[in-house]
Amino acid sequence: LRHFLSVEHLPRSLLEDILDTAASFVDVGGRAIKKVPLLRGKTVVNLFFESSTRTRSTFELAAKRLSADVLNLDIAKSATSKGETLLDTLRNLEAMAADMFVVRHQDSGAPFFIANEVTPRVAVINAGDGRHAHPTQAMLDMYTIRHYKGGFAGLRVAIVGDILHSRVARSQIHALNILGAEEVRLIGPRTLLPTDVEQLGVTVFTDMAQGLKDVDVVIMLRLQKERMDSALLPSEGEFFRLYGLNNEKLRHARPDAIVMHPGPINRGVEIASEVADGPRSVILNQVTFGIAVRMAVMSMTISGQESNPDHGGDHGR
Ligand code: CP
Repeated sequence: LRHFLSVEHLPRSLLEDILDTAASFVDVGGRAIKKVPLLRGKTVVNLFFESSTRTRSTFELAAKRLSADVLNLDIAKSATSKGETLLDTLRNLEAMAADMFVVRHQDSGAPFFIANEVTPRVAVINAGDGRHAHPTQAMLDMYTIRHYKGGFAGLRVAIVGDILHSRVARSQIHALNILGAEEVRLIGPRTLLPTDVEQLGVTVFTDMAQGLKDVDVVIMLRLQKERMDSALLPSEGEFFRLYGLNNEKLRHARPDAIVMHPGPINRGVEIASEVADGPRSVILNQVTFGIAVRMAVMSMTISGQESNPDHGGDHGR
Protein backbone atom coordinates (compact mmCIF):
# COMPACT_ATOMS: atom_id res chain seq x y z
CA LEU A 1 0.00 0.00 0.00
CA ARG A 2 1.27 3.48 -0.90
CA HIS A 3 -1.65 5.34 0.71
CA PHE A 4 -4.93 4.11 2.24
CA LEU A 5 -7.69 6.40 1.03
CA SER A 6 -10.67 4.20 0.20
CA VAL A 7 -11.66 0.51 0.19
CA GLU A 8 -13.61 0.90 -3.05
CA HIS A 9 -11.97 -1.04 -5.91
CA LEU A 10 -9.41 -2.73 -3.63
CA PRO A 11 -9.03 -6.48 -4.15
CA ARG A 12 -10.53 -8.91 -1.67
CA SER A 13 -7.08 -10.38 -1.00
CA LEU A 14 -5.79 -6.99 0.20
CA LEU A 15 -8.74 -6.49 2.57
CA GLU A 16 -8.18 -10.01 3.92
CA ASP A 17 -4.48 -9.21 4.32
CA ILE A 18 -5.37 -6.16 6.45
CA LEU A 19 -7.70 -8.27 8.63
CA ASP A 20 -5.07 -11.03 9.01
CA THR A 21 -2.32 -8.51 9.82
CA ALA A 22 -4.60 -6.89 12.42
CA ALA A 23 -5.29 -10.34 13.93
CA SER A 24 -1.55 -10.84 14.34
CA PHE A 25 -1.48 -7.79 16.65
CA VAL A 26 -4.34 -8.99 18.87
CA ASP A 27 -3.78 -11.11 21.96
CA VAL A 28 -6.13 -13.88 23.07
CA GLY A 29 -8.14 -11.46 25.20
CA GLY A 30 -8.94 -9.42 22.07
CA ARG A 31 -6.90 -6.38 23.13
CA ALA A 32 -4.14 -5.00 20.91
CA ILE A 33 -0.68 -6.25 21.86
CA LYS A 34 2.04 -4.18 23.47
CA LYS A 35 4.72 -2.37 21.53
CA VAL A 36 6.30 -3.72 18.34
CA PRO A 37 9.12 -1.89 16.54
CA LEU A 38 7.62 -1.78 13.02
CA LEU A 39 7.46 2.05 12.82
CA ARG A 40 10.50 2.84 14.97
CA GLY A 41 12.13 6.05 13.71
CA LYS A 42 8.99 7.10 11.80
CA THR A 43 6.91 10.20 12.52
CA VAL A 44 3.12 10.05 12.22
CA VAL A 45 1.17 13.33 12.09
CA ASN A 46 -2.53 13.33 13.01
CA LEU A 47 -4.21 16.08 10.98
CA PHE A 48 -7.83 16.27 12.16
CA PHE A 49 -9.74 19.20 10.66
CA GLU A 50 -12.96 17.75 12.09
CA SER A 51 -13.71 16.54 15.63
CA SER A 52 -13.03 12.94 16.67
CA THR A 53 -12.79 10.84 19.81
CA ARG A 54 -12.34 7.25 18.63
CA THR A 55 -10.45 7.60 15.35
CA ARG A 56 -7.87 10.15 16.49
CA SER A 57 -7.22 8.38 19.81
CA THR A 58 -6.91 4.90 18.32
CA PHE A 59 -4.63 6.14 15.52
CA GLU A 60 -2.43 7.70 18.21
CA LEU A 61 -2.42 4.51 20.30
CA ALA A 62 -1.79 2.38 17.20
CA ALA A 63 1.16 4.55 16.12
CA LYS A 64 2.65 4.44 19.62
CA ARG A 65 2.28 0.66 19.78
CA LEU A 66 4.16 0.48 16.49
CA SER A 67 6.92 2.59 18.18
CA ALA A 68 6.40 5.67 15.96
CA ASP A 69 6.72 9.26 17.15
CA VAL A 70 3.29 10.92 17.03
CA LEU A 71 2.44 14.55 16.48
CA ASN A 72 -1.17 15.66 16.98
CA LEU A 73 -1.54 19.00 15.24
CA ASP A 74 -4.13 21.12 17.03
CA ILE A 75 -5.78 22.60 13.95
CA ALA A 76 -7.79 25.18 15.92
CA LYS A 77 -4.58 26.56 17.43
CA SER A 78 -2.44 26.12 14.30
CA ALA A 79 -1.30 28.84 11.91
CA THR A 80 -4.16 27.93 9.56
CA SER A 81 -6.12 30.45 11.69
CA LYS A 82 -3.60 33.09 10.55
CA GLY A 83 -4.26 32.38 6.90
CA GLU A 84 -1.68 29.67 6.18
CA THR A 85 -2.87 27.43 3.36
CA LEU A 86 -3.28 23.67 3.72
CA LEU A 87 -0.41 23.13 1.27
CA ASP A 88 1.94 25.40 3.19
CA THR A 89 1.01 23.60 6.42
CA LEU A 90 1.83 20.28 4.74
CA ARG A 91 5.17 21.54 3.42
CA ASN A 92 6.15 22.65 6.92
CA LEU A 93 5.19 19.31 8.45
CA GLU A 94 7.16 17.53 5.73
CA ALA A 95 10.14 19.73 6.66
CA MET A 96 9.83 18.23 10.16
CA ALA A 97 10.44 14.82 8.51
CA ALA A 98 6.86 13.51 8.78
CA ASP A 99 6.48 10.02 7.28
CA MET A 100 2.70 9.69 7.45
CA PHE A 101 -0.32 12.00 7.56
CA VAL A 102 -3.54 10.67 9.07
CA VAL A 103 -6.17 13.05 7.70
CA ARG A 104 -9.76 13.77 8.68
CA HIS A 105 -11.44 16.57 6.79
CA GLN A 106 -14.96 17.88 6.38
CA ASP A 107 -14.53 18.08 2.58
CA SER A 108 -14.94 14.91 0.54
CA GLY A 109 -11.73 14.28 -1.37
CA ALA A 110 -9.37 16.28 0.85
CA PRO A 111 -7.11 13.28 1.72
CA PHE A 112 -6.88 12.44 -2.02
CA PHE A 113 -5.78 16.01 -2.72
CA ILE A 114 -3.17 15.78 0.04
CA ALA A 115 -1.95 12.40 -1.24
CA ASN A 116 -1.34 13.97 -4.65
CA GLU A 117 0.65 16.81 -3.13
CA VAL A 118 2.91 15.10 -0.58
CA THR A 119 6.50 14.18 -1.32
CA PRO A 120 6.92 10.55 -2.38
CA ARG A 121 8.18 9.32 0.99
CA VAL A 122 5.04 10.42 2.87
CA ALA A 123 2.02 8.09 3.19
CA VAL A 124 -1.52 9.40 3.64
CA ILE A 125 -4.32 7.59 5.46
CA ASN A 126 -7.91 8.77 5.16
CA ALA A 127 -9.47 9.07 8.64
CA GLY A 128 -12.82 10.24 7.21
CA ASP A 129 -13.54 12.77 4.44
CA GLY A 130 -16.90 14.54 4.28
CA ARG A 131 -19.63 12.08 3.46
CA HIS A 132 -17.34 10.15 1.11
CA ALA A 133 -15.27 7.48 2.89
CA HIS A 134 -13.99 6.25 6.25
CA PRO A 135 -11.96 3.23 5.18
CA THR A 136 -10.25 2.32 8.47
CA GLN A 137 -13.64 2.44 10.25
CA ALA A 138 -15.01 0.02 7.63
CA MET A 139 -12.02 -2.28 8.13
CA LEU A 140 -12.39 -2.36 11.92
CA ASP A 141 -16.09 -3.10 11.37
CA MET A 142 -15.17 -5.96 9.02
CA TYR A 143 -12.72 -7.22 11.64
CA THR A 144 -15.48 -7.16 14.26
CA ILE A 145 -17.92 -9.03 11.99
CA ARG A 146 -15.32 -11.66 11.11
CA HIS A 147 -14.41 -12.03 14.79
CA TYR A 148 -18.00 -12.70 15.90
CA LYS A 149 -19.39 -14.42 12.80
CA GLY A 150 -16.32 -16.28 11.53
CA GLY A 151 -16.50 -14.88 7.99
CA PHE A 152 -18.79 -13.20 5.46
CA ALA A 153 -20.27 -16.05 3.40
CA GLY A 154 -24.01 -16.34 3.95
CA LEU A 155 -24.17 -13.21 6.12
CA ARG A 156 -27.03 -10.72 5.98
CA VAL A 157 -26.01 -7.29 7.23
CA ALA A 158 -28.41 -4.38 7.80
CA ILE A 159 -27.14 -0.78 7.91
CA VAL A 160 -29.77 1.47 9.48
CA GLY A 161 -30.43 5.21 9.64
CA ASP A 162 -28.89 8.23 7.94
CA ILE A 163 -27.07 6.50 5.11
CA LEU A 164 -27.14 9.53 2.81
CA HIS A 165 -24.66 11.52 4.90
CA SER A 166 -22.61 8.59 6.21
CA ARG A 167 -19.06 8.04 4.95
CA VAL A 168 -18.98 5.00 7.24
CA ALA A 169 -21.94 3.35 5.49
CA ARG A 170 -20.44 3.97 2.05
CA SER A 171 -17.14 2.33 3.02
CA GLN A 172 -18.91 -0.54 4.82
CA ILE A 173 -21.07 -1.28 1.75
CA HIS A 174 -17.99 -1.53 -0.48
CA ALA A 175 -16.07 -3.65 2.03
CA LEU A 176 -18.98 -6.05 2.66
CA ASN A 177 -19.54 -6.57 -1.06
CA ILE A 178 -15.81 -7.09 -1.73
CA LEU A 179 -15.54 -9.59 1.14
CA GLY A 180 -18.53 -11.60 -0.12
CA ALA A 181 -21.39 -10.91 2.30
CA GLU A 182 -24.61 -12.59 1.13
CA GLU A 183 -26.78 -9.46 1.37
CA VAL A 184 -26.26 -5.85 2.40
CA ARG A 185 -29.52 -4.16 3.41
CA LEU A 186 -30.01 -0.44 3.86
CA ILE A 187 -32.89 0.57 6.13
CA GLY A 188 -34.02 4.18 6.47
CA PRO A 189 -36.43 6.84 5.24
CA ARG A 190 -36.16 7.52 1.50
CA THR A 191 -34.97 11.07 2.29
CA LEU A 192 -31.86 9.63 4.00
CA LEU A 193 -30.88 7.11 1.32
CA PRO A 194 -28.17 7.93 -1.27
CA THR A 195 -29.31 8.92 -4.74
CA ASP A 196 -26.95 6.34 -6.32
CA VAL A 197 -28.38 3.51 -4.19
CA GLU A 198 -29.14 1.40 -7.29
CA GLN A 199 -25.43 1.18 -8.08
CA LEU A 200 -24.31 0.14 -4.61
CA GLY A 201 -25.23 -3.57 -4.68
CA VAL A 202 -27.67 -3.36 -1.77
CA THR A 203 -31.31 -4.12 -0.96
CA VAL A 204 -33.36 -1.16 0.29
CA PHE A 205 -36.01 -1.23 3.03
CA THR A 206 -37.97 1.64 4.54
CA ASP A 207 -39.57 -0.56 7.22
CA MET A 208 -37.53 -1.81 10.18
CA ALA A 209 -39.47 -5.04 10.78
CA GLN A 210 -39.03 -6.14 7.17
CA GLY A 211 -35.43 -4.95 6.87
CA LEU A 212 -34.23 -6.55 10.10
CA LYS A 213 -35.89 -9.91 9.43
CA ASP A 214 -33.32 -12.68 9.91
CA VAL A 215 -30.23 -10.46 9.67
CA ASP A 216 -26.97 -11.56 11.34
CA VAL A 217 -25.54 -8.10 11.90
CA VAL A 218 -27.28 -4.76 12.60
CA ILE A 219 -25.20 -1.61 12.12
CA MET A 220 -26.84 1.55 13.48
CA LEU A 221 -25.87 5.06 12.32
CA ARG A 222 -26.48 8.43 13.92
CA LEU A 223 -28.21 11.35 12.20
CA GLN A 224 -25.31 13.40 10.78
CA LYS A 225 -26.85 16.76 11.57
CA GLU A 226 -23.64 18.62 10.74
CA ARG A 227 -23.89 17.46 7.12
CA MET A 228 -27.66 17.73 6.80
CA ASP A 229 -29.82 20.29 5.10
CA SER A 230 -32.15 21.28 7.98
CA ALA A 231 -35.16 20.61 5.73
CA LEU A 232 -34.17 16.91 5.80
CA LEU A 233 -33.81 16.69 9.57
CA PRO A 234 -36.53 14.42 10.96
CA SER A 235 -37.92 14.97 14.46
CA GLU A 236 -35.81 12.87 16.84
CA GLY A 237 -38.89 11.39 18.54
CA GLU A 238 -40.42 10.37 15.22
CA PHE A 239 -37.09 9.00 13.98
CA PHE A 240 -36.69 6.89 17.11
CA ARG A 241 -40.24 5.56 16.82
CA LEU A 242 -39.70 4.44 13.22
CA TYR A 243 -35.98 3.62 13.04
CA GLY A 244 -34.55 3.65 16.58
CA LEU A 245 -33.31 0.21 17.61
CA ASN A 246 -34.87 -1.10 20.81
CA ASN A 247 -35.24 -4.68 22.06
CA GLU A 248 -38.66 -4.99 20.46
CA LYS A 249 -37.39 -4.19 16.95
CA LEU A 250 -34.22 -6.26 17.49
CA ARG A 251 -36.43 -9.35 17.89
CA HIS A 252 -36.84 -9.39 14.10
CA ALA A 253 -33.13 -10.10 13.62
CA ARG A 254 -31.61 -13.55 14.17
CA PRO A 255 -31.37 -14.53 17.85
CA ASP A 256 -27.56 -14.45 17.61
CA ALA A 257 -27.39 -11.15 15.69
CA ILE A 258 -24.79 -8.65 16.87
CA VAL A 259 -25.42 -4.90 17.11
CA MET A 260 -22.76 -2.46 15.95
CA HIS A 261 -22.39 1.32 15.79
CA PRO A 262 -19.33 3.33 14.68
CA GLY A 263 -20.02 5.97 17.35
CA PRO A 264 -20.68 8.49 18.59
CA ILE A 265 -24.06 7.08 19.64
CA ASN A 266 -27.09 9.26 20.31
CA ARG A 267 -29.11 7.36 22.91
CA GLY A 268 -32.84 7.59 22.39
CA VAL A 269 -32.42 8.85 18.81
CA GLU A 270 -31.09 5.91 16.74
CA ILE A 271 -30.49 3.42 19.55
CA ALA A 272 -32.03 2.69 22.95
CA SER A 273 -29.73 2.24 25.94
CA GLU A 274 -31.22 -1.25 26.49
CA VAL A 275 -29.64 -2.26 23.15
CA ALA A 276 -26.46 -0.15 23.26
CA ASP A 277 -25.58 -1.57 26.68
CA GLY A 278 -27.22 -4.95 26.09
CA PRO A 279 -25.72 -8.41 25.60
CA ARG A 280 -25.77 -8.27 21.78
CA SER A 281 -23.96 -4.96 21.52
CA VAL A 282 -20.30 -5.14 20.37
CA ILE A 283 -19.98 -1.36 20.08
CA LEU A 284 -17.07 -0.99 22.49
CA ASN A 285 -15.35 -4.09 21.08
CA GLN A 286 -15.30 -2.29 17.71
CA VAL A 287 -13.32 0.50 19.36
CA THR A 288 -10.81 -1.95 20.84
CA PHE A 289 -10.32 -3.75 17.52
CA GLY A 290 -9.76 -0.35 15.88
CA ILE A 291 -6.30 -0.14 17.44
CA ALA A 292 -5.10 -3.40 15.86
CA VAL A 293 -6.71 -2.61 12.50
CA ARG A 294 -5.08 0.82 12.40
CA MET A 295 -1.76 -0.77 13.36
CA ALA A 296 -2.20 -3.08 10.37
CA VAL A 297 -3.00 -0.28 7.91
CA MET A 298 -0.15 1.92 9.14
CA SER A 299 2.44 -0.86 9.06
CA MET A 300 1.29 -1.98 5.59
CA THR A 301 1.48 1.55 4.12
CA ILE A 302 4.95 2.13 5.56
CA SER A 303 6.25 -1.24 4.35
CA GLY A 304 4.61 -0.57 0.95
CA GLN A 305 6.61 2.64 0.73
CA GLU A 306 9.87 1.00 1.73
CA SER A 307 9.48 -1.87 -0.75
CA ASN A 308 8.62 0.56 -3.55
CA PRO A 309 11.35 3.22 -3.58
CA ASP A 310 10.18 4.80 -6.86
CA HIS A 311 6.70 5.14 -5.32
CA GLY A 312 4.84 4.09 -8.46
CA GLY A 313 1.74 1.91 -8.52
CA ASP A 314 -1.90 2.61 -7.90
CA HIS A 315 -1.45 4.46 -4.61
CA GLY A 316 -3.71 2.00 -2.84
CA ARG A 317 -6.85 3.81 -3.86
N1 CP B 1 -16.38 6.38 14.38
C1 CP B 1 -15.77 7.58 14.40
O1 CP B 1 -15.23 8.02 13.38
O2 CP B 1 -15.76 8.22 15.61
P1 CP B 1 -15.01 9.58 15.90
O3 CP B 1 -15.71 10.68 15.15
O4 CP B 1 -15.07 9.78 17.39
O5 CP B 1 -13.59 9.44 15.42
